[in-house]
Amino acid sequence: MSAAIQSVVLGATGYVGGEFLRLIAAHPTFELGGAVSESRAGDAVAAVFPHLATAVGETAFVGHDEWAGRIDRGSRVALFSAAPHGASAAILRSALERASARDLDIHVVDASADFRYAKQADYEAVYGEHGAPELIEHFSSGLPEHVDGTPTAHVGHPGCFASAMLLAAVPLIASGLTGGELFATGITGSTGSGRSPQPGTHHPERHSNLYAYKPLSHRHAPEVRLLTGQATGTLPRLHFVPHSGPFARGIHMTVQTPAEGVPVQALKTAFHDAYADCAFVELVNGTPRLKDVVASNACRIGVAASDEAVVVTVVIDNLVKGAAGGAVQWMNRLCGLPETAGLLAPAPAWT
Ligand SMILES: NC(=O)c1ccc[n+]([C@@H]2O[C@H](COP(=O)([O-])OP(=O)(O)OC[C@H]3O[C@@H](n4cnc5c(N)ncnc54)[C@H](OP(=O)(O)O)[C@@H]3O)[C@@H](O)[C@H]2O)c1
Repeated sequence: MSAAIQSVVLGATGYVGGEFLRLIAAHPTFELGGAVSESRAGDAVAAVFPHLATAVGETAFVGHDEWAGRIDRGSRVALFSAAPHGASAAILRSALERASARDLDIHVVDASADFRYAKQADYEAVYGEHGAPELIEHFSSGLPEHVDGTPTAHVGHPGCFASAMLLAAVPLIASGLTGGELFATGITGSTGSGRSPQPGTHHPERHSNLYAYKPLSHRHAPEVRLLTGQATGTLPRLHFVPHSGPFARGIHMTVQTPAEGVPVQALKTAFHDAYADCAFVELVNGTPRLKDVVASNACRIGVAASDEAVVVTVVIDNLVKGAAGGAVQWMNRLCGLPETAGLLAPAPAWT
Protein backbone atom coordinates (compact mmCIF):
# COMPACT_ATOMS: atom_id res chain seq x y z
CA MET A 1 0.00 0.00 0.00
CA SER A 2 1.23 3.55 -0.77
CA ALA A 3 2.17 5.93 2.05
CA ALA A 4 -0.73 7.98 3.35
CA ILE A 5 -1.59 11.17 1.49
CA GLN A 6 -2.86 13.97 3.72
CA SER A 7 -6.31 15.02 2.57
CA VAL A 8 -7.78 18.42 3.36
CA VAL A 9 -11.41 19.45 2.82
CA LEU A 10 -12.42 23.12 2.51
CA GLY A 11 -16.08 23.95 3.20
CA ALA A 12 -16.12 20.78 5.29
CA THR A 13 -19.39 21.49 7.14
CA GLY A 14 -21.50 21.39 3.96
CA TYR A 15 -23.29 18.43 2.41
CA VAL A 16 -20.54 17.80 -0.12
CA GLY A 17 -17.90 18.45 2.56
CA GLY A 18 -19.48 15.76 4.74
CA GLU A 19 -19.36 13.31 1.86
CA PHE A 20 -15.67 14.05 1.35
CA LEU A 21 -15.08 13.26 5.04
CA ARG A 22 -17.03 10.00 4.74
CA LEU A 23 -15.16 8.89 1.61
CA ILE A 24 -11.74 9.86 3.00
CA ALA A 25 -12.46 7.82 6.16
CA ALA A 26 -12.89 4.70 3.99
CA HIS A 27 -10.00 5.43 1.61
CA PRO A 28 -6.95 3.15 1.69
CA THR A 29 -4.41 5.96 1.06
CA PHE A 30 -6.03 9.31 1.86
CA GLU A 31 -5.86 10.28 5.52
CA LEU A 32 -7.78 13.25 6.92
CA GLY A 33 -5.26 16.05 7.36
CA GLY A 34 -7.81 18.83 7.94
CA ALA A 35 -11.57 19.34 7.91
CA VAL A 36 -11.51 23.07 7.29
CA SER A 37 -14.39 25.30 8.37
CA GLU A 38 -14.77 29.02 8.82
CA SER A 39 -17.96 28.82 10.87
CA ARG A 40 -17.25 25.76 13.07
CA ALA A 41 -13.46 25.76 13.61
CA GLY A 42 -12.74 24.10 16.97
CA ASP A 43 -16.05 22.19 17.05
CA ALA A 44 -16.11 18.41 16.81
CA VAL A 45 -16.76 17.07 13.31
CA ALA A 46 -19.15 14.58 14.90
CA ALA A 47 -21.21 17.47 16.28
CA VAL A 48 -22.05 18.52 12.71
CA PHE A 49 -22.09 15.00 11.24
CA PRO A 50 -23.20 12.53 13.95
CA HIS A 51 -23.37 9.76 11.32
CA LEU A 52 -19.57 10.07 10.92
CA ALA A 53 -18.82 9.70 14.66
CA THR A 54 -17.27 6.24 14.40
CA ALA A 55 -15.03 7.39 11.54
CA VAL A 56 -13.86 10.78 12.84
CA GLY A 57 -13.66 10.16 16.61
CA GLU A 58 -12.61 13.35 18.43
CA THR A 59 -11.44 15.15 15.27
CA ALA A 60 -12.33 18.85 15.27
CA PHE A 61 -12.75 21.30 12.40
CA VAL A 62 -9.76 23.59 11.85
CA GLY A 63 -9.62 27.15 10.53
CA HIS A 64 -8.30 28.16 7.10
CA ASP A 65 -5.12 29.52 8.69
CA GLU A 66 -4.44 26.33 10.71
CA TRP A 67 -4.46 23.29 8.46
CA ALA A 68 -1.18 23.77 6.57
CA GLY A 69 0.85 24.17 9.77
CA ARG A 70 -0.37 20.76 10.96
CA ILE A 71 1.02 18.95 7.92
CA ASP A 72 4.69 17.97 7.71
CA ARG A 73 6.77 20.08 5.32
CA GLY A 74 7.09 18.51 1.87
CA SER A 75 4.15 16.11 2.38
CA ARG A 76 1.85 14.98 -0.41
CA VAL A 77 -1.53 16.66 -0.03
CA ALA A 78 -4.90 16.03 -1.69
CA LEU A 79 -6.89 19.25 -1.30
CA PHE A 80 -10.64 19.20 -1.95
CA SER A 81 -12.85 22.27 -2.05
CA ALA A 82 -16.53 22.02 -1.20
CA ALA A 83 -16.90 25.78 -0.80
CA PRO A 84 -19.57 27.66 -2.76
CA HIS A 85 -18.87 28.96 -6.25
CA GLY A 86 -17.64 32.51 -6.14
CA ALA A 87 -15.90 31.88 -2.80
CA SER A 88 -13.94 28.75 -3.68
CA ALA A 89 -11.42 30.33 -6.07
CA ALA A 90 -10.15 32.92 -3.58
CA ILE A 91 -10.09 30.34 -0.77
CA LEU A 92 -8.04 28.03 -3.00
CA ARG A 93 -5.64 30.84 -3.87
CA SER A 94 -4.91 31.34 -0.15
CA ALA A 95 -4.69 27.58 0.43
CA LEU A 96 -2.18 27.14 -2.41
CA GLU A 97 -0.08 30.01 -1.02
CA ARG A 98 -0.05 28.30 2.38
CA ALA A 99 0.84 24.99 0.75
CA SER A 100 3.67 26.59 -1.20
CA ALA A 101 5.09 28.16 1.99
CA ARG A 102 5.39 24.63 3.44
CA ASP A 103 6.65 23.02 0.19
CA LEU A 104 3.62 20.74 0.05
CA ASP A 105 3.29 18.52 -3.02
CA ILE A 106 -0.35 19.31 -3.70
CA HIS A 107 -3.19 18.51 -6.07
CA VAL A 108 -6.58 20.24 -5.90
CA VAL A 109 -10.01 19.06 -7.00
CA ASP A 110 -12.66 21.76 -6.68
CA ALA A 111 -16.30 20.61 -6.46
CA SER A 112 -17.51 24.16 -7.02
CA ALA A 113 -18.02 25.83 -10.40
CA ASP A 114 -15.01 28.13 -10.10
CA PHE A 115 -12.62 26.11 -12.26
CA ARG A 116 -14.96 24.40 -14.71
CA TYR A 117 -14.30 26.87 -17.50
CA ALA A 118 -11.07 27.15 -19.47
CA LYS A 119 -11.80 30.81 -20.26
CA GLN A 120 -12.38 33.48 -17.63
CA ALA A 121 -14.94 35.21 -19.88
CA ASP A 122 -17.03 32.01 -20.19
CA TYR A 123 -17.09 31.63 -16.39
CA GLU A 124 -17.94 35.28 -15.82
CA ALA A 125 -20.80 35.17 -18.36
CA VAL A 126 -22.53 32.68 -16.04
CA TYR A 127 -21.29 33.43 -12.51
CA GLY A 128 -19.86 36.96 -12.48
CA GLU A 129 -16.36 38.04 -11.47
CA HIS A 130 -13.85 35.22 -11.00
CA GLY A 131 -12.08 35.08 -7.63
CA ALA A 132 -8.63 33.94 -8.84
CA PRO A 133 -8.35 34.18 -12.65
CA GLU A 134 -4.59 33.63 -12.60
CA LEU A 135 -5.20 30.04 -11.42
CA ILE A 136 -7.54 29.04 -14.26
CA GLU A 137 -4.70 27.77 -16.48
CA HIS A 138 -3.68 25.28 -13.77
CA PHE A 139 -7.10 23.61 -13.82
CA SER A 140 -8.96 21.54 -16.40
CA SER A 141 -12.46 20.12 -16.24
CA GLY A 142 -14.46 17.15 -17.45
CA LEU A 143 -15.42 13.74 -16.10
CA PRO A 144 -12.62 11.19 -15.64
CA GLU A 145 -14.57 8.92 -18.02
CA HIS A 146 -14.20 11.49 -20.82
CA VAL A 147 -10.69 12.88 -20.29
CA ASP A 148 -7.43 11.05 -20.97
CA GLY A 149 -4.66 11.27 -18.39
CA THR A 150 -4.08 14.35 -16.27
CA PRO A 151 -3.99 17.49 -18.44
CA THR A 152 -3.32 19.77 -15.45
CA ALA A 153 -2.20 19.48 -11.81
CA HIS A 154 -5.65 20.51 -10.59
CA VAL A 155 -9.24 19.77 -11.66
CA GLY A 156 -12.57 21.58 -11.51
CA HIS A 157 -15.21 18.87 -11.21
CA PRO A 158 -18.36 19.29 -13.32
CA GLY A 159 -21.59 19.97 -11.42
CA CYS A 160 -24.05 17.25 -10.42
CA PHE A 161 -26.66 17.85 -13.13
CA ALA A 162 -23.78 18.40 -15.54
CA SER A 163 -22.18 15.05 -14.63
CA ALA A 164 -25.41 13.19 -15.37
CA MET A 165 -25.95 15.06 -18.65
CA LEU A 166 -22.34 14.53 -19.76
CA LEU A 167 -22.52 10.80 -19.08
CA ALA A 168 -25.42 10.66 -21.57
CA ALA A 169 -24.37 13.34 -24.05
CA VAL A 170 -20.73 12.53 -24.72
CA PRO A 171 -21.14 8.94 -26.02
CA LEU A 172 -24.32 9.94 -27.85
CA ILE A 173 -22.68 12.78 -29.77
CA ALA A 174 -19.39 10.88 -30.21
CA SER A 175 -21.24 7.91 -31.75
CA GLY A 176 -22.36 10.02 -34.71
CA LEU A 177 -25.71 8.19 -34.59
CA THR A 178 -27.64 11.39 -33.85
CA GLY A 179 -27.41 15.10 -34.47
CA GLY A 180 -26.26 17.62 -31.92
CA GLU A 181 -29.56 18.90 -30.53
CA LEU A 182 -30.31 17.50 -27.08
CA PHE A 183 -33.38 17.87 -24.85
CA ALA A 184 -32.59 17.07 -21.22
CA THR A 185 -34.91 16.69 -18.23
CA GLY A 186 -33.25 16.23 -14.84
CA ILE A 187 -34.71 15.61 -11.38
CA THR A 188 -32.54 16.26 -8.33
CA GLY A 189 -32.85 15.50 -4.65
CA SER A 190 -32.97 18.32 -2.09
CA THR A 191 -29.31 17.96 -0.99
CA GLY A 192 -28.45 19.42 -4.39
CA SER A 193 -29.13 22.88 -2.97
CA GLY A 194 -26.75 22.65 0.00
CA ARG A 195 -27.44 22.80 3.72
CA SER A 196 -28.71 26.39 4.00
CA PRO A 197 -32.53 26.22 3.99
CA GLN A 198 -34.29 27.87 1.06
CA PRO A 199 -37.97 28.00 0.09
CA GLY A 200 -37.36 25.45 -2.68
CA THR A 201 -35.68 22.96 -0.33
CA HIS A 202 -38.04 23.27 2.65
CA HIS A 203 -39.48 19.85 3.52
CA PRO A 204 -43.23 20.67 3.24
CA GLU A 205 -42.63 22.15 -0.21
CA ARG A 206 -40.49 19.30 -1.39
CA HIS A 207 -42.11 16.24 0.17
CA SER A 208 -44.68 14.51 -2.12
CA ASN A 209 -44.09 17.24 -4.67
CA LEU A 210 -42.39 17.63 -8.04
CA TYR A 211 -41.75 20.84 -9.92
CA ALA A 212 -39.58 22.30 -12.64
CA TYR A 213 -37.42 25.36 -12.07
CA LYS A 214 -35.29 27.60 -14.27
CA PRO A 215 -36.52 25.90 -17.47
CA LEU A 216 -34.02 26.43 -20.32
CA SER A 217 -31.89 28.76 -18.16
CA HIS A 218 -30.09 26.56 -15.60
CA ARG A 219 -26.46 27.57 -15.08
CA HIS A 220 -25.11 24.05 -15.69
CA ALA A 221 -26.21 24.00 -19.34
CA PRO A 222 -23.31 26.14 -20.69
CA GLU A 223 -20.68 23.98 -18.98
CA VAL A 224 -22.28 20.82 -20.41
CA ARG A 225 -22.17 22.29 -23.92
CA LEU A 226 -18.52 23.27 -23.60
CA LEU A 227 -17.39 20.02 -21.94
CA THR A 228 -19.31 17.93 -24.49
CA GLY A 229 -17.63 19.96 -27.22
CA GLN A 230 -14.24 19.41 -25.57
CA ALA A 231 -14.80 15.63 -25.39
CA THR A 232 -16.35 15.10 -28.84
CA GLY A 233 -15.37 18.02 -31.07
CA THR A 234 -19.07 18.89 -31.51
CA LEU A 235 -20.74 21.66 -29.55
CA PRO A 236 -24.34 20.47 -29.00
CA ARG A 237 -27.46 22.59 -28.75
CA LEU A 238 -28.80 21.78 -25.31
CA HIS A 239 -32.30 22.45 -23.93
CA PHE A 240 -32.37 21.60 -20.23
CA VAL A 241 -35.31 21.62 -17.80
CA PRO A 242 -34.31 20.84 -14.18
CA HIS A 243 -36.81 19.61 -11.59
CA SER A 244 -36.88 19.42 -7.80
CA GLY A 245 -37.68 15.88 -6.66
CA PRO A 246 -39.24 14.68 -3.38
CA PHE A 247 -36.13 12.82 -2.19
CA ALA A 248 -32.91 13.90 -0.46
CA ARG A 249 -30.24 12.61 -2.79
CA GLY A 250 -29.85 11.38 -6.36
CA ILE A 251 -30.26 12.66 -9.92
CA HIS A 252 -32.44 11.11 -12.60
CA MET A 253 -31.60 12.50 -16.04
CA THR A 254 -33.40 11.90 -19.35
CA VAL A 255 -31.71 13.09 -22.55
CA GLN A 256 -33.62 12.85 -25.83
CA THR A 257 -32.78 13.78 -29.38
CA PRO A 258 -34.64 13.43 -32.68
CA ALA A 259 -33.02 10.73 -34.84
CA GLU A 260 -34.47 8.68 -37.65
CA GLY A 261 -34.16 4.91 -37.61
CA VAL A 262 -31.26 4.46 -35.19
CA PRO A 263 -31.09 0.74 -34.35
CA VAL A 264 -31.22 0.32 -30.60
CA GLN A 265 -28.44 -2.24 -30.81
CA ALA A 266 -26.15 0.36 -32.41
CA LEU A 267 -26.92 2.70 -29.53
CA LYS A 268 -26.22 -0.01 -26.96
CA THR A 269 -22.94 -0.86 -28.65
CA ALA A 270 -21.88 2.79 -28.69
CA PHE A 271 -22.51 3.19 -24.95
CA HIS A 272 -21.05 -0.20 -24.12
CA ASP A 273 -17.86 0.58 -26.01
CA ALA A 274 -17.60 4.12 -24.62
CA TYR A 275 -17.68 2.90 -21.03
CA ALA A 276 -16.13 -0.56 -21.37
CA ASP A 277 -13.11 0.47 -19.27
CA CYS A 278 -15.01 2.65 -16.81
CA ALA A 279 -15.47 0.93 -13.47
CA PHE A 280 -18.33 3.10 -12.26
CA VAL A 281 -20.55 3.20 -15.35
CA GLU A 282 -22.91 0.38 -16.22
CA LEU A 283 -25.23 0.08 -19.20
CA VAL A 284 -28.40 -1.65 -18.01
CA ASN A 285 -31.20 -3.45 -19.77
CA GLY A 286 -34.34 -1.33 -19.57
CA THR A 287 -34.24 1.81 -17.45
CA PRO A 288 -31.98 2.57 -14.47
CA ARG A 289 -33.34 3.38 -10.99
CA LEU A 290 -32.10 5.81 -8.38
CA LYS A 291 -32.00 3.37 -5.48
CA ASP A 292 -29.35 1.32 -7.26
CA VAL A 293 -26.83 4.19 -7.19
CA VAL A 294 -27.76 6.51 -4.32
CA ALA A 295 -24.88 7.01 -1.85
CA SER A 296 -22.43 5.30 -4.20
CA ASN A 297 -20.11 6.44 -7.00
CA ALA A 298 -22.01 4.34 -9.54
CA CYS A 299 -23.69 5.57 -12.69
CA ARG A 300 -26.30 3.43 -14.43
CA ILE A 301 -27.47 4.18 -17.96
CA GLY A 302 -30.34 2.90 -20.11
CA VAL A 303 -30.93 3.58 -23.81
CA ALA A 304 -33.94 3.23 -26.10
CA ALA A 305 -34.79 4.19 -29.68
CA SER A 306 -37.86 4.57 -31.89
CA ASP A 307 -38.10 5.37 -35.60
CA GLU A 308 -37.92 9.08 -34.76
CA ALA A 309 -35.89 9.58 -31.58
CA VAL A 310 -33.42 8.15 -29.12
CA VAL A 311 -33.47 8.51 -25.35
CA VAL A 312 -30.76 7.99 -22.74
CA THR A 313 -31.61 7.79 -19.04
CA VAL A 314 -28.90 8.21 -16.40
CA VAL A 315 -28.97 7.90 -12.62
CA ILE A 316 -26.20 9.06 -10.27
CA ASP A 317 -25.90 10.28 -6.70
CA ASN A 318 -25.54 14.07 -6.75
CA LEU A 319 -23.28 14.18 -3.68
CA VAL A 320 -21.06 11.24 -4.69
CA LYS A 321 -20.62 10.70 -8.45
CA GLY A 322 -21.83 14.28 -9.02
CA ALA A 323 -19.46 15.85 -6.48
CA ALA A 324 -17.30 14.27 -3.73
CA GLY A 325 -17.00 10.78 -5.27
CA GLY A 326 -16.19 12.09 -8.73
CA ALA A 327 -13.66 14.42 -7.13
CA VAL A 328 -12.01 11.56 -5.22
CA GLN A 329 -11.97 9.57 -8.49
CA TRP A 330 -10.09 12.47 -10.12
CA MET A 331 -7.77 12.83 -7.13
CA ASN A 332 -6.93 9.13 -7.27
CA ARG A 333 -5.80 9.63 -10.85
CA LEU A 334 -3.87 12.83 -10.08
CA CYS A 335 -2.06 10.99 -7.25
CA GLY A 336 -1.26 7.93 -9.40
CA LEU A 337 -3.59 5.63 -7.43
CA PRO A 338 -6.11 3.16 -8.85
CA GLU A 339 -9.06 5.30 -9.93
CA THR A 340 -11.44 3.13 -7.92
CA ALA A 341 -9.54 3.46 -4.60
CA GLY A 342 -11.97 4.05 -1.74
CA LEU A 343 -14.96 4.27 -4.07
CA LEU A 344 -16.19 0.73 -4.55
CA ALA A 345 -18.68 0.57 -1.66
CA PRO A 346 -22.03 -0.47 -3.14
CA ALA A 347 -25.21 1.57 -2.88
CA PRO A 348 -27.20 0.77 0.29
CA ALA A 349 -30.41 0.74 -1.83
CA TRP A 350 -32.89 1.35 0.98
CA THR A 351 -32.00 4.83 2.18
N1 LIG B 1 -24.96 19.65 -3.17
C1 LIG B 1 -24.69 19.05 -4.32
O1 LIG B 1 -25.38 18.09 -4.72
C2 LIG B 1 -23.52 19.49 -5.15
C3 LIG B 1 -23.16 18.73 -6.28
C4 LIG B 1 -22.10 19.15 -7.07
C5 LIG B 1 -21.38 20.28 -6.72
N2 LIG B 1 -21.73 21.00 -5.63
C6 LIG B 1 -20.92 22.17 -5.28
O2 LIG B 1 -20.16 21.81 -4.12
C7 LIG B 1 -20.01 22.95 -3.28
C8 LIG B 1 -20.58 22.63 -1.91
O3 LIG B 1 -21.96 22.34 -2.04
P1 LIG B 1 -22.84 21.97 -0.77
O4 LIG B 1 -24.15 21.53 -1.29
O5 LIG B 1 -22.09 21.09 0.14
O6 LIG B 1 -23.02 23.41 -0.08
P2 LIG B 1 -23.31 23.75 1.44
O7 LIG B 1 -24.01 22.60 2.08
O8 LIG B 1 -23.97 25.07 1.43
O9 LIG B 1 -21.86 23.88 2.10
C9 LIG B 1 -20.89 24.79 1.66
C10 LIG B 1 -19.90 25.02 2.78
O10 LIG B 1 -18.97 26.02 2.35
C11 LIG B 1 -18.69 26.92 3.41
N3 LIG B 1 -19.10 28.27 3.00
C12 LIG B 1 -20.32 28.77 2.86
N4 LIG B 1 -20.29 30.03 2.42
C13 LIG B 1 -19.01 30.35 2.32
C14 LIG B 1 -18.35 31.51 1.94
N5 LIG B 1 -19.00 32.61 1.52
N6 LIG B 1 -17.04 31.49 1.96
C15 LIG B 1 -16.39 30.41 2.34
N7 LIG B 1 -16.97 29.25 2.70
C16 LIG B 1 -18.27 29.23 2.68
C17 LIG B 1 -19.51 26.53 4.60
O11 LIG B 1 -18.65 25.88 5.48
P3 LIG B 1 -17.86 26.65 6.64
O12 LIG B 1 -18.61 27.87 7.02
O13 LIG B 1 -17.86 25.66 7.71
O14 LIG B 1 -16.50 26.96 6.09
C18 LIG B 1 -20.54 25.57 4.04
O15 LIG B 1 -20.85 24.53 4.95
C19 LIG B 1 -20.74 24.11 -3.98
O16 LIG B 1 -19.82 24.85 -4.74
C20 LIG B 1 -21.73 23.38 -4.88
O17 LIG B 1 -22.10 24.15 -6.01
C21 LIG B 1 -22.78 20.62 -4.82
